[in-house]
Amino acid sequence: MEEIHQKNDEEDELLSSLPKVWAWGFTYMYNYKGFWYRPQVTQSMVSCQKHFEAQNTDTIIATFPKSGTTWLKALSFAILTRAQYPSSQSPLLSFNPHHLVPFLEFELYLNKPVPDLSALPSPRIFGTHMAYSLLPESIQNSTCRVVYICRNPLDAFVSLWHFINKGVGETLPLEECFDDFCQGIAGCGPFFDHVLGYWKQSLERPYKVLFLTYEDLKEDTTGTHLKRLAEFLGCPFSLEEERDGVIEEISKLCSFNMLKDMEHNKTGNSILDFENKTLFRRGEVGDWINLLTPEMVERLTNIMEQKLAGSGIVF
Ligand code: A3P
Repeated sequence: MEEIHQKNDEEDELLSSLPKVWAWGFTYMYNYKGFWYRPQVTQSMVSCQKHFEAQNTDTIIATFPKSGTTWLKALSFAILTRAQYPSSQSPLLSFNPHHLVPFLEFELYLNKPVPDLSALPSPRIFGTHMAYSLLPESIQNSTCRVVYICRNPLDAFVSLWHFINKGVGETLPLEECFDDFCQGIAGCGPFFDHVLGYWKQSLERPYKVLFLTYEDLKEDTTGTHLKRLAEFLGCPFSLEEERDGVIEEISKLCSFNMLKDMEHNKTGNSILDFENKTLFRRGEVGDWINLLTPEMVERLTNIMEQKLAGSGIVF
């Protein structure tokens, strides 16, 4: 498939200086400071790094693609704005989470004049798939908070493969895509470098980076992780809220079935050309079993054990 993308001179100059590979059977990816990106995103990241001014009250939702971004954006938005909007009047009932929490490099800085974000009302919440080391300096150096969610790489890969298939409108060669993923070649990858970058920061600066997992959130029947999230975001649930069932309400509002069935999430686009409905597929832990062969599972599990050895991250 031919890569269709209008490039400008500045972008051409940047891209021509970077290593590139043909990846996943449909696109070139460029290695920018250790991480792989599609051409237009490489340029928007650079623009974001140059121009984005974090405010101390900002929240940044950071993820590797297909790790629960939509979910975490919804939860963080609902938690941070609950004084303004009780669940029954939440903007989540009318807008996709990516509309309410826009991506920096996939939306605000992508193929557009540099946006003026200074007038956005507080609390500003943004999303990013950038690696920690690539975040704009103002994010790293201000007291804004970063929440990261990571997911078992087997599920993240499977979810990504299905999602990209929908985006390009054809079935990509599974073996080739998997091989690329195992070698670290995937948009925003290598997966493990991405995860470990945020993990390290969450250990060194726990007040700055909160590290969550998709699997923990899925099991969170008692609201433990939602309470952690609210505390980290500086707006812990009060005893009264707990008693009144506010945690359960937010959990329900942001649940897979609830979001998936909302009319505005079945139509339209919120990220690039991807239809909103493609953001909600199965929403389960362990769906890799339905796609990957035992050999594939063994290969990626071995890489995972090697890469995460001694880190303390367990799936
Ligand atoms: P599956 O493809 O395994 O179903 P992202 O939001 O980072 O793009 O991740 C997408 C994955 O999260 C998809 O996984 C999607 O179905 C799942 N997902 C979306 N909303 C969810 C929610 N509210 N709760 C749990 N999983 C959700």
